[in-house]
Amino acid sequence: MKTILVIGGTGAQGIPVVKALATNPEYTIKIITRDTTSPSAQYLTTLPSVTLIPGTPYSEPTLHSALSNTDIVFANTNGFALGEKAEIYWGIRLYELCRQHAISHFIYAGLEYGSKLGNFLPKYRCGHLDGKGKVVQFLSAQPTEPMKWSVITSCMYMEALWEFLRPYPDPDADEPGRLVFAAPLGEARCPLICLEDYGRYVRWMVENAEQSNGLELHVATEDVSWEELAATFSEVTGKRAVYKDVTLDEYFSSGIFPDPEAKIGGKEAGRDDATLMSYRDNFSGFWNTWKDQLTQRDYLIMDRVLPDRVRSVREWMGLVGYDGGIGGC
Ligand SMILES: NC(=O)c1ccc[n+]([C@@H]2O[C@H](COP(=O)([O-])OP(=O)(O)OC[C@H]3O[C@@H](n4cnc5c(N)ncnc54)[C@H](OP(=O)(O)O)[C@@H]3O)[C@@H](O)[C@H]2O)c1
Repeated sequence: MKTILVIGGTGAQGIPVVKALATNPEYTIKIITRDTTSPSAQYLTTLPSVTLIPGTPYSEPTLHSALSNTDIVFANTNGFALGEKAEIYWGIRLYELCRQHAISHFIYAGLEYGSKLGNFLPKYRCGHLDGKGKVVQFLSAQPTEPMKWSVITSCMYMEALWEFLRPYPDPDADEPGRLVFAAPLGEARCPLICLEDYGRYVRWMVENAEQSNGLELHVATEDVSWEELAATFSEVTGKRAVYKDVTLDEYFSSGIFPDPEAKIGGKEAGRDDATLMSYRDNFSGFWNTWKDQLTQRDYLIMDRVLPDRVRSVREWMGLVGYDGGIGGC
C-alpha cells in the first residue's frame, strides 16, 4: 500500500485526480480540506480509501502532520486564493517539507510561465500563471533523487465551457436563439484540458515514477480555435452559435468579474499587499498569453501516455452531453 496526500483535492482539478487514484486499490489517499462537510469533501469520502484531514494546506503544523506516514504528494496550490507571492512561497516550501519528510515522489500542478515565454513583456504578466511557472523553475533545478519530482502543466479546463467560457444569447443576432462564444482570443488556437484525463495523467505519473521523474508534462485535450468551437457546438447540439472576438475592455465590461479592479488573493494576503494583481491586469496577461500562442504541447507524448485520451472538444461535447448551459458535470 502507498499513501498519497492530495493538496487541493476538493477542487475542480483535485477531484478527478483523487477519483483516478482511487481506482487503484493499492493507494490510500489523504486530502486536506478546510471544510470536511462540503459537498465535494463528502463526495470524496464515498470513494475507496479516501480520508479527510481538517485544516488548510497553507499551515506548517497541518502539513507536518499530513506528511507523516505519506509516500507521495500531489499538490495543486490555489493561486486565486493565495496571490502570486504566497503561491510561490508555498510551492517551494511544500517541496522542502516533502524532502524533510522523506516523501518518495512530489507531483506539482504547474501552469505556463507566460511572462518568461513572452520575453517578460508586461502584456503577458499574469500572477496565477507566473506564480506556478516560477515554482516549476525551482523544481526543475532540483535533483531527481532521493525524492522524485514531476510537473503536470495544464491549461484552461474544458469543463469551464459549462462556466465562464459558456456561450450566451447573442445581442447582435439577426436570427432568434443564436448564441455567442465571446473571448479576447483573435484567431488563436487555445488549449483546453478535459479534467477526467487530467486525473489519469496524474495516476500515470504515480504509477510510472521512473518515467515521470524529472518530467514536466504539458497536457491538453486539443488546441481549439474559438471559431471552430462555435461551429462544433452548432453541429453537436443543433443550436446556432458564433464566435465573437472581443477586446480586453469589452471582455472586462461584460460583467465576467463583478469587480475587475479587485485584487486576486486579497482575502488571504490583505488588500494592501502591493504584490497582488487586479483581476483586470492578471487576466489581461492571461488572455494575451493564449492569444499570442506562447505555449506549445506535444500531443504525440500525450497519445503515448494515455492512448485512450479524449482527443477533441467535439469528442468531449458528445461524451458529456454538452448543451452550453450552466453546471452540467
Ligand atoms: N480554472 C481553470 O481553468 C484552471 C486551469 C488550470 C489551473 N488552474 C489553477 O488551479 C488552482 C485552483 O484549483 P481548482 O481549479 O481546483 O479550484 P477550485 O475548484 O476553486 O478548488 C479550490 C481548492 O482550493 C482550496 N481552497 C480554496 N480557498 C482556499 C483558501 N483560502 N485556503 C486554503 N485552501 C483553499 C479548496 O479547498 P477546501 O476544501 O479547503 O475548500 C479546494 O481544494 C489555481 O491555482 C488555478 O490557477 C485553474
